[in-house]
Amino acid sequence: MTTVLVLNGPNLGRLGSREPDVYGHQDMAALRALLQAEAGEGYTIDLRQTDDEAEMIHWLHGAVDSATPVILNPAAFTHYSYALRDAAALVTKSGGTLIEVHISNPHAREEFRHTSVISGIATGVIAGFGFDSYVLALWAIGRIAP
Ligand code: DQA
Repeated sequence: MTTVLVLNGPNLGRLGSREPDVYGHQDMAALRALLQAEAGEGYTIDLRQTDDEAEMIHWLHGAVDSATPVILNPAAFTHYSYALRDAAALVTKSGGTLIEVHISNPHAREEFRHTSVISGIATGVIAGFGFDSYVLALWAIGRIAP
């Protein structure tokens, strides 16, 4: 069975209580359950969250080595982390799939969120659909990296 790595960056461990007007009332456990239900028998969902840039980079290195497709919500790293961009580029430039997702639509928010240093090397970007951004990314992986 194919594993899909679902990586979440800083402060997303606080989903449920963090700015519920922006991110909703559901937490990481609910996201995991949703994705596992959507994945059915087809995929194993390996969902992780970290506030640590180095740990996220190491997870991406692991995805390169194991050729595992990645759904990445880089959270605030999106807007400034060239180190994360370089690690994400290792995935796509080695022929792998990496889909950048956001729960909110960063383009409809503060100006600093309008820049993503990740999008330019991502396979694709999905934003603004709440937890369904991840579900849509899973669907896309089924289409392009079954
Ligand atoms: C986010 C958007 C980012 O701007 C923000 O820093 C996050 C979450 C989203 O999922 O909407 O932490 O990536």
